[in-house]
Amino acid sequence: MKHFRMPATVLLSAAMLVAGAQSASARPVHDASLRALADRADVRIGAAVDMTALVDETDYRRTTASEFNSVTAENVMKWESVEPERGTYDWSKADELVAFARAHGQAVRGHTLLWHNQLPAWLTAGVADGSIDAKELRGILHKHVTAEVSHFKGRIYQWDVVNEVFNDDGSLRDSLWLQKLGPSYIADTFRWAHAADPKAKLFLNDYNVEGVNAKSTAYYELARDLRKQGVPVQGFGIQGHLSIQYGFPGDVSDNVARFAKLGMQTAFTEVDVRMALPVDSEKLAKQATYFRGLLDACLGSRSCKSFTVWGFTDKHSWVPGVFTGEGAATLLDEEYAQKPAYTAVAEGLREGR
Ligand code: XIL
Repeated sequence: MKHFRMPATVLLSAAMLVAGAQSASARPVHDASLRALADRADVRIGAAVDMTALVDETDYRRTTASEFNSVTAENVMKWESVEPERGTYDWSKADELVAFARAHGQAVRGHTLLWHNQLPAWLTAGVADGSIDAKELRGILHKHVTAEVSHFKGRIYQWDVVNEVFNDDGSLRDSLWLQKLGPSYIADTFRWAHAADPKAKLFLNDYNVEGVNAKSTAYYELARDLRKQGVPVQGFGIQGHLSIQYGFPGDVSDNVARFAKLGMQTAFTEVDVRMALPVDSEKLAKQATYFRGLLDACLGSRSCKSFTVWGFTDKHSWVPGVFTGEGAATLLDEEYAQKPAYTAVAEGLREGR
């Protein structure tokens, strides 16, 4: 049974439900799982899910189900995935994730509606060659946001509406969105998302915004100004991609607190802590303190509703492919064995808020 494989598309949902039932009997959500501890701490513990691994690997499915009570699509809700050809939508993989989450009592974070990466080629090419002008681009963005948020209406508790729109110095990123539409694209995107699903909490999301710095302050001022204007912005997402070769960011709790004071939710949305390879026990111990530092900042503020890791096993992590010479950034090693970081997160959740 362990190595059964079937033509994925046809039998996928059935296979996943079977896998879910197996995992429920083989490894029930035990009292010490991260999700059981998180339930008691009144926070969502989430993971970004790689859909290929979810389909192919029993251990991956089982761990996703047993350790987490929230999931994020690592890639399959991004624009290039859901509208690969103009006007032709493909929700299949994202729907599979939502079905898996439903079968396992998990909430779903939506990621992401507007970004400068992983855009469909038809869109970037059309903008580059001038066949899509600014007016048409705005209509395309409106249609995309409306279609995607409507498709998942009622099934997403937090949406990353705009992703990575600032530079580290606090200036707006010079993306095609800014170039063609000007800064008002941000408010527009939030308004359109809210119109399509008024109950979903709508988030800004970025990296290098853990502590108080020029970039997080730009977000603070943007959120404050948008909310003053009545734009539906309800959350601030802190990605949390850290590396132990840099110091732990200062003032994370103060940063979270200032957004809470605006009346916003906060979330840690993509936490991983990478290290220069090879791994040694000292690096793993340091990594554990970084995970724990971010988790404590979350648990220290009632505004912080979810803490999501960007991958949970070193077997499936984006880090080695992107950061040369670095890796081992997640809670479990390549064999799914618990690392000190896992224990640190479990202890933090056990201590609670
Ligand atoms: C990454 C995925 O993990 C990779 O699989 C993909 O190739 C590129 O994108 N910030 C984000 C995420 O908001 O969407 C990115 O995810 C990681 C950085």
